[in-house]
Amino acid sequence: MPFSPVTQTCTPVRGEINVRRDLTEVCRDAASQAVTIIREAVRLRGRCSIVLAGGSTPRSLYEVWARDLATKIPWPQVDLFWGDERYVPHDDRRSNYRMARESLLGHVQIPAGNVHRMDTSFADIDEAAEAYERLLKRYFTGARPDFDLVLLGIGTDGHTASLFPGSPAVEETDRWVVAVDAPADPPKRLSLTLPAINAAANVFVIAAGSDKAEAVRCALEGAPNVDVCPASGIRPESGRLSWWLDDAAAALARIP
Ligand code: 6PG
Repeated sequence: MPFSPVTQTCTPVRGEINVRRDLTEVCRDAASQAVTIIREAVRLRGRCSIVLAGGSTPRSLYEVWARDLATKIPWPQVDLFWGDERYVPHDDRRSNYRMARESLLGHVQIPAGNVHRMDTSFADIDEAAEAYERLLKRYFTGARPDFDLVLLGIGTDGHTASLFPGSPAVEETDRWVVAVDAPADPPKRLSLTLPAINAAANVFVIAAGSDKAEAVRCALEGAPNVDVCPASGIRPESGRLSWWLDDAAAALARIP
């Protein structure tokens, strides 16, 4: 049953669920809602911290920012971070930084010093994770990285960022950034942890396609089971969670 393109709200712990007909509409509306968050954060605190998602789904959202909304975003006051990164050089076709550079960074006037990519040049990936955590702790003064907005995708297996089912990383409670061995190409990755993600003021999870429907259902329904479905652990401590789904990705989730 195709969902009508209206915002449907699930129980508060699951956040707001926005369903649209296709990825284009999802990214158009999510990008616009994100601009509202960005502008409010800058109005209130003079800065806005955003975590970019990797993979392919968010590319369309970044393109909307760059093409249609660039003049509405106060780039000099925006700081960009990454939720995860494949441990490859930044010009590697698999790099999340490269995807963001191609779809967004190369098209907007954001100061280079505002772009805080995960450094993948360390010989020891654990040192890279520690370095990024130090970077975050220099930026955030509190006990947690309270990003203004974290963008996430979800894998067909229920992973989010680079937190995969069965990985010890899904159980991490103290560190903000970890190195992981993923069942994906490339296997070595850096990822924010669930405590870091859940400290955010706003979290958007963006998914499209029927191949994501079971993962979305698993993440939205029942008690969280992060070992099986890491995305079920996306539960902001006090922030707002918004799912942005196309009809196909929402098809199996019972949305009242
Ligand atoms: C990554 C992402 C990852 C991604 C999902 C969905 O580095 O791959 O951070 O969590 O969001 O794998 O990827 P797609 O958007 O390509 O389906």
